[in-house]
Amino acid sequence: MVSVLFVCLGNICRSPAAEGVFRALCLREGLSVSIDSAGTGAWHAGNLPDIRMRAAAKNRGIDLSKQRARQVQQADYRDFDLILAMDQSNLADLLAEAPPNRTADIRLFLDFGSSNERDVPDPYYGGDAGFEKVLNLVEDAALGLLQHLEDNAS
Ligand code: 4NP
Repeated sequence: MVSVLFVCLGNICRSPAAEGVFRALCLREGLSVSIDSAGTGAWHAGNLPDIRMRAAAKNRGIDLSKQRARQVQQADYRDFDLILAMDQSNLADLLAEAPPNRTADIRLFLDFGSSNERDVPDPYYGGDAGFEKVLNLVEDAALGLLQHLEDNAS
């Protein structure tokens, strides 16, 4: 089974949203994918996703309440086929920490999106619009990622 790890900084806003949206999409489309998320930082390890992110996702029918934050581990670089960074800073941090024997392909999540935007902006210190923007970008890139996995499966 293909495995995908979504990564942001805190693992309480963007990557949990990506995990929830992509899991729901795969379930709906009947595609079997192993999905998780993590943060490059450990500040929020063990915590639920941010309450604002949970509320915004719930409005779109996505339940994030089963998720708990965790930090990226060295084993992730071998356990996952695809590690998808939410922004270029997360990507740089992931590459800097990657062990030489990594097998995971490490990319920007928005490489699979339909717009020219490269980063899912960090919504943590902003208002509600930032969380809607995260979900818009994540929903769009999730469709592209699904297509990519389906193309590569056949
Ligand atoms: P995330 O957002 O990386 O999308 O989970 C953040 C959450 C917390 C912090 C920064 C970004 N923080 O600085 O605590």
